[in-house]
Amino acid sequence: MKKLVITGAAGRVASVLRPLLQDLAEQIVLSDLREVENLSDKESFVRSDLADRGAMRDLIAGSDGIIHLGGIANEGDWQSIRAGNIDGLINLYDAAALAGQPRIVFASSYHVVGFAPQSETLDSKAPMRPDGLYGVSKVFGEALASMYFDKTGQETAVVRIGSCFSDVHSHRMMKTWFSPTDFASLIRRAFAADTLGYRVLYGVSDNKDGWWINDQAEDLGWSPVDSSERFRADVAARFSPPEPGSPDDLLQGGVFTTFEIKSN
Ligand code: NAI
Repeated sequence: MKKLVITGAAGRVASVLRPLLQDLAEQIVLSDLREVENLSDKESFVRSDLADRGAMRDLIAGSDGIIHLGGIANEGDWQSIRAGNIDGLINLYDAAALAGQPRIVFASSYHVVGFAPQSETLDSKAPMRPDGLYGVSKVFGEALASMYFDKTGQETAVVRIGSCFSDVHSHRMMKTWFSPTDFASLIRRAFAADTLGYRVLYGVSDNKDGWWINDQAEDLGWSPVDSSERFRADVAARFSPPEPGSPDDLLQGGVFTTFEIKSN
């Protein structure tokens, strides 16, 4: 690619992904509300608000690919979620349409299915069961991406990220961990594949006893190589297991299922 845009570039996921993606494009444009530090030679920073349509059009113009990590990444109040994750998404797709439909990797979340019991194994067709307004906003993003593909051919890899961090720091994360290496290889496949279409993937490594089946990964030619297993002894020594019968023990979304709905 000549120009790759990464939104949410000051965030946690971008900070672990960026070093792994440097060869993907000649020019990598990093965008966020917050300043991004320690830029490489090929990276540049553009401060822009996802909720600002004009700014998004300027940012995306001339791009060949977009990794969309920006927005509210936790449960929050509706005004913030609406600006970053609802208005932000429509602005992103509007800008992509004007820019000639660069492929989009969209960071969704497993909180779209947070009310599913941990005893259920889900695939890409599982019914939506969002566990809060954050999860609802990701359901909106997935639906918008699907609609844009059906109507206009805009291709998107929806990645329902589990927990993308360098290491594992809870019992839950033993199931949900998505190593930065695996996320980076998924992104590479999404941009390299002859056909991407609209595709829903679970962003998860090859963890033991996971909750998700990646039924749309195989024909993309992607499979994870990491596993949380190497953290098992450390997690057992440092962290308490969830209380039996608690949401963290029973539901895929864990404590997110208990958060107040901040509708105004
Ligand atoms: P983060 O909160 O560290 O980064 C998100 C970035 O988006 C922040 O730097 C923030 O300044 C920026 N942002 C927020 N509102 C904005 C706006 N209106 N305009 C421009 N930029 C805005 O989140 P993190 O952990 O890096 O997550 C990245 C993406 O992955 C998010 O979309 C999140 O929902 C998703 N995700 C992450 C998971 C994880 O394991 N970290 C798990 C599931 C999903």
